[in-house]
Amino acid sequence: MKTLIIYTHPNPKSFNAAIKETVEQELKSKNHEVQVRDLYQMNFNPILNADDFNQFFQNQIPADIKAEQNEIEWADNLIFIYPTWWINMPAMLKGYIDRVFTNGFAFQVSENGAVGLLKGKKVIIFQTTGQPEENLKPYNLISSMEISMGSGTLAFCGIESITHKFFYAVPYITDDMRNSMLEEVKTILNKL
Ligand SMILES: Cc1cc2nc3c(=O)[nH]c(=O)nc-3n(C[C@H](O)[C@H](O)[C@H](O)COP(=O)(O)O)c2cc1C
Repeated sequence: MKTLIIYTHPNPKSFNAAIKETVEQELKSKNHEVQVRDLYQMNFNPILNADDFNQFFQNQIPADIKAEQNEIEWADNLIFIYPTWWINMPAMLKGYIDRVFTNGFAFQVSENGAVGLLKGKKVIIFQTTGQPEENLKPYNLISSMEISMGSGTLAFCGIESITHKFFYAVPYITDDMRNSMLEEVKTILNKL
C-alpha cells in the first residue's frame, strides 16, 4: 500500500513530530511505501494568489502544485498530522489545501453540483490540542473541526475518512500519557 503523510508543524521536537515519526516507522515496518510531505521543511508556499488563478483560468497548474497533486494521485492513503491552532488547522495546511485540492483535480463542479475526484483513497487524521477535551466539547468545537475537515473538505473530494483522532492537552500531560498516545497511533494505523 502507498501512504502519503502530510505533516504540518514547524518544530521537529514537537509531539506532532513524534506522531509523524511513529506513523512513518510503523507503516514502513508493515511494508507500506511511505512518502512524507513536511510542509514547513519544504517551505511550501501556502498563498493562493492571482498568478495561480491566472494559470487555472488557462487550464494550467503551477509546477509546485502539480508536484503535490502527483504525490496525492500516487497514494492509496493520506495521513494528516497537525496541531490545533485557533480551533482550526495551521494556516500552512489550510493554504496547502487551498492550492493543491483544485477544481478538476480533487473535485469537479458542474451545473449538477460537485463530484469528488479522489474516490478510493482513505484518510486518517491525527490532530493535537492544547486544551483538554472537557473545555472544547461543550462548545461543539471538536465536532466543528471534524465536520469541516471530514465532510466539508475530504468527503467533498470523495476521500473516505477512517478516523479523525484528537489527542488532547498534549503539552500538559505526562510522558507516560504521551507514550500511550503513540501506542494508540499504531493501533489506529491497523485500520488501513
Ligand atoms: C497559534 C496557536 C494557536 C493555538 N490554538 C489552540 C486552540 O485553539 N485550541 C487548543 O486546544 N490549543 C491551541 N493551541 C495549542 C496547541 O494546539 C498545542 O500546543 C499543540 O497541539 C501541542 O502539540 P505540539 O507539542 O506538537 O505543538 C494553539 C497553539 C498555537 C501556537
